[in-house]
Amino acid sequence: MSATGAGTPGPQRSSERREVLYVIACGSPLAGHIGRLVELAQRDGWDVCVVTTPDGAKFVDRPALARQTGHPVRSRYKGPGDPDVLPSADAMIVCPATVNTVNKWAAGITDTLALGLLVEAQGKGVPVLAVPFTNVAMAGHPAFRASLARLAEWGVEVLFGDHVVPLHPPGSGERHLHAFPWAAVLPALRDRRRPVTPAA
Ligand SMILES: Cc1cc2nc3c(=O)[nH]c(=O)nc-3n(C[C@H](O)[C@H](O)[C@H](O)COP(=O)(O)O)c2cc1C
Repeated sequence: MSATGAGTPGPQRSSERREVLYVIACGSPLAGHIGRLVELAQRDGWDVCVVTTPDGAKFVDRPALARQTGHPVRSRYKGPGDPDVLPSADAMIVCPATVNTVNKWAAGITDTLALGLLVEAQGKGVPVLAVPFTNVAMAGHPAFRASLARLAEWGVEVLFGDHVVPLHPPGSGERHLHAFPWAAVLPALRDRRRPVTPAA
């Protein structure tokens, strides 16, 4: 059993197993719209599981996401002896990635389930895409830029910048959610593994 409580294959027969994508949502109003990304990923053939940070959990509709994905939404480490409830991930997308989680991730900190999964993903070679969403002031902190550069250097795909979504003024995030380019996210996950072909 893994420390993060994710890693036991699901109930599907291996020949029928779809690739599993973890969508990890952090504490931003954009997390409230993560169902859009779930829908696009499902259309693309992924079996999607949603994980949030504890702050991300405040922004999402857990029952709706559980219905949409068929998996419980996890936000905290399981307790000792609790069963693993999610299938292991073939890829992960952190969207929205907050400044806080990006900085802790780059430092190897694992004090949330989301960070534990991301730090483990590095060691397991699981492809990860980070999609930060934040305001111009938070993005201006040098630690954030340095963290993104470190993550990219270590093989994490980073989708961020004015070409993706222009940085908004502090306190105005809610008003810029409509401009978020959901359709650009999945194509940025370049290292997607080949789908498992069902046996004839
Ligand atoms: C209403 C509200 C909106 C926020 N929006 C963002 C955001 O868009 N991006 C960001 O980096 N932080 C944002 N924050 C700050 C994060 O929620 C805060 O840094 C938190 O510690 C993040 O925790 P997490 O990284 O574990 O999700 C917001 C906070 C609040 C209260």
